[in-house]
Amino acid sequence: MKKNDVSKLEIIDNGMNFEGIAKNNNMVVFVPGAIIGETVLAKFIKVNKNYAIAKIEQMITESRYRVKPFCDVFGKCGGCSSQHIEYDMQLILKSKLVKNLFDKQKLKYPKIENTVGMGLPYYYRNKVQYPMRQDSKGNSKIGFYLKRSHNVIYNNCCYIQNRVIDILAKELSEDLIKSGFKGYNEEDNSGDIRHLLIRRGYHTKEIMVVVIVNKEELVYDSKLIDILKNIVRKNECIKSVFINVNENNTNEILGDKLEHILGDEYISDYIGDFKFFISPKSFFQVNTLQAEVLYSVLKESLLINKDEVIFDLYSGVGSIGIFLSKEAKKIYGIEIEKEAVKMANLNIIENNVTNAEYIAGSVEDKIEEFKIRNIKPDIIVVDPPRKGLDEKSIKYILAFNPKKIGYVSCNPATLSRDLKLLESKYEIKKVVPVDMFPFTEHCEVVTTLELKRS
Ligand SMILES: C[S@@+](CC[C@H](N)C(=O)[O-])C[C@H]1O[C@@H](n2cnc3c(N)ncnc32)[C@H](O)[C@@H]1O
Repeated sequence: MKKNDVSKLEIIDNGMNFEGIAKNNNMVVFVPGAIIGETVLAKFIKVNKNYAIAKIEQMITESRYRVKPFCDVFGKCGGCSSQHIEYDMQLILKSKLVKNLFDKQKLKYPKIENTVGMGLPYYYRNKVQYPMRQDSKGNSKIGFYLKRSHNVIYNNCCYIQNRVIDILAKELSEDLIKSGFKGYNEEDNSGDIRHLLIRRGYHTKEIMVVVIVNKEELVYDSKLIDILKNIVRKNECIKSVFINVNENNTNEILGDKLEHILGDEYISDYIGDFKFFISPKSFFQVNTLQAEVLYSVLKESLLINKDEVIFDLYSGVGSIGIFLSKEAKKIYGIEIEKEAVKMANLNIIENNVTNAEYIAGSVEDKIEEFKIRNIKPDIIVVDPPRKGLDEKSIKYILAFNPKKIGYVSCNPATLSRDLKLLESKYEIKKVVPVDMFPFTEHCEVVTTLELKRS
């Protein structure tokens, strides 16, 4: 097998990015755009020692789950990866992906449950970060990154973003461009505006706008401030406006300096009956409706008793802990982002929660404090970022010996790695994937573990 050869391939699975997987002479071949069960004629575009990549040349047998993508830029835009697969099949594939990763780690686990999907899996994102860039002619535009690139593609309507956010971003970017502001140019770190970050409370409809600029002096630019004042005047749902400065040549979207320009310093939204204040730098689940499903799955799986103490690790604005607070004796949370902890403390008051305490700092540094204070958890809930848990935190979690662990993960690969370490003392009792990000490869999983009886 060599580059440019064409072969008939049977697709035996779909991988982490929904790419088709085939075997050719015992070598794994990734076939982007192919679906399990399909047979294709494909041309090898890359052949490595351990794997190859092939491009579909001709469809021989088409999957009955193949559907027409609904977005004009599908395949080019880096946002969605599975619009060509029927939604119910995407949910099956997400559960299968989790199973494959668990099997690779040789974990012992009960049947992975069906991924809990959305009734209407469209327009679900409550937060968007649009890059504003210059094209080769120096014209500025907002849009979405092309696949594996930092070039931007304009899209009139994104079917997974909230429509109001989409329309507002377009209006604001046009005002900025008309007034002479330039999109960021990564090559020479020039230009004015790097990103427009817009968040909208799903239930409250309150909007926060953050303009991320490339130069500190823009914070005081009267033309920019006037544009922002004007857009607030025209859109009364905009409750909060910030300018953020990021002068570094990095992939990080937000820089350190955050200047409050207009309105409140935060917006709010509801998850279930609980109201949460959200500030520009604090994490909040991007799919509000499914966040309620996610937290409900966690609550039901943990079977909490009223006398139990829960650690809410990687707690963000306190959303999981507050959601569980009525079922438990006490909640202790740890979160690295100071602003999010400030929000968590406001959220406790707002929701009349009297049994929760949130600490700012990293889990790995702060978890020891609970030991020093002789606080013993009955349940530990973790919801780490994509990189998962670090070994130090896992050692502490094991040493605390809680009866149950609830692991909420947005990355099944690091989840399965961490479960392997927790398996020494814990038995996996329930695994429920929840689709927080329809039409993308991202997969959220709630796993519940119980202390093994010795
Ligand atoms: C996936 S979010 C979950 C937040 C929250 N549980 C929720 O459902 O909204 C992960 C959170 O972990 C925080 N974080 C990242 N690294 C951390 C660390 N080492 N220690 C504590 N918190 C951390 C992030 O700031 C973020 O708020």
